[in-house]
Amino acid sequence: MSKRYQTKITEMLGIKYPILSGGMQWISRAEFVASVCNAGATGFITAESLEKPEDLKDEIKKMRDLTDKPFGINLSMVPEFGEPKRTLAFCDVLCEAGIKFVETAGRSPEPLMPVFKQGGVKVIHKLTSVRHAIKAEKLGVDAVTILGYGSGGHIGTENIASFIQVPLAIRELNIPIIAGGGIATGSGFLGALAMGAEAVLMGTAFFASEEAAIHDGIKQKLVETNVADTVLLLKSLGNPIRVARNTLADECLALEARGASLEEVITKVAGGKGKQAYMSGDAESSPLACGQTVGLVDAIKPVKQIIDDMIAEADALLDRLNAAIS
Ligand SMILES: Cc1cc2nc3c(=O)[nH]c(=O)nc-3n(C[C@H](O)[C@H](O)[C@H](O)COP(=O)(O)O)c2cc1C
Repeated sequence: MSKRYQTKITEMLGIKYPILSGGMQWISRAEFVASVCNAGATGFITAESLEKPEDLKDEIKKMRDLTDKPFGINLSMVPEFGEPKRTLAFCDVLCEAGIKFVETAGRSPEPLMPVFKQGGVKVIHKLTSVRHAIKAEKLGVDAVTILGYGSGGHIGTENIASFIQVPLAIRELNIPIIAGGGIATGSGFLGALAMGAEAVLMGTAFFASEEAAIHDGIKQKLVETNVADTVLLLKSLGNPIRVARNTLADECLALEARGASLEEVITKVAGGKGKQAYMSGDAESSPLACGQTVGLVDAIKPVKQIIDDMIAEADALLDRLNAAIS
C-alpha cells in the first residue's frame, strides 16, 4: 500500500496526492482534467480555452458528470491589460457554480481577490519569483506555486532553478508553497516535499499523456525532443516562454537575434497557432510549450499511470532512505 503524502495542500483542496496539473490552454478541458482528478491528483480547467465566460458553466457541468473529485479553474491573465473584465466574468461563473479553488497566473490577482474572498474560493497564485510571492501573500492568496527555470510555458525573467526557488520561498513565506517546473518523477516529487513544498505542480509530464487531446504527431515530437532541445522564445520582449525546438522556434529566434519588431515576432507565435498544431499534428510550424522534463518523456502513458509510477517511485525511495538511516 502506498505511503500517505498528507500535506497542507491535500487538506486544503481535499485531494489524495499532493500533485497538481497546471492549467494548459486547449489541453485542460473537462475530459483531461477529470482523468487527473480521478487518479488522485487535481487539475484546473483552463478558462482561456473557452470562447466566452458562459461556456465555463457547461464545462463545469461536464466535469461534474465525469468526476466527483475536487477540481479548480485556471485563470491565465496574460492577454489582459487594464481592468480584467473577461477574467472577472469567469470569476462570477465559477463562484456561482461553487468552485472551491482557482489557479491564477500571468499577472497580479489583486483585482480578483474581493470576488474570491466573498465567494469562499481558495486562490493558488502561480508565479516565477519569490519577490512576487511575497506580494501575493500580502494580497491574501492561500498558496503560491513557484515555478523554476526549467518549466514549460512562461518562465519569468529571473532564471532560477526550482531547487533554489523553493527553499528561498520557504524562508520568506508563511502560506503553503507548491513547487512547479522541472518535476516529473517520484524523486522530484519527494525532493520538493523534502525541501518544504506542500505539493508539486506539473505541466509537461501531463501534456505527454494519453488523455491530452492532441494529435499523435505532437505526442511523437514530445517523445523525440531531448532535454537540451527546449528554447526560450520572446526573451527579447521580456516575456520568455519555453518551447520545444522546431522550425518555427528557430525562425523566431533568428528574428529576435536581428532585433525584429514586437509585431513581427508576435505574428510568428500568436493567433491560435498552438491549437492548430494540436489538431493537425504539424509539430514544426507552431510554438509547442514544454519544459525541460520533456527529456524524461520516453513514452506516452495514461495519466493514472504517470501518477501511480511517481508515487511508487517515491515510496521505494523513502524505503531506501529509511533503510540507509536505520
Ligand atoms: C502545453 C502547455 C500549455 C500551458 N498553458 C498554460 C496556460 O494556459 N496557463 C498557465 O497558467 N500555464 C500554462 N502552462 C504552464 C503549466 O501550467 C505549468 O506551470 C508548467 O508546465 C510547469 O512546468 P513543467 O512543464 O516543467 O511541469 C502550460 C504548459 C504547457 C506544457
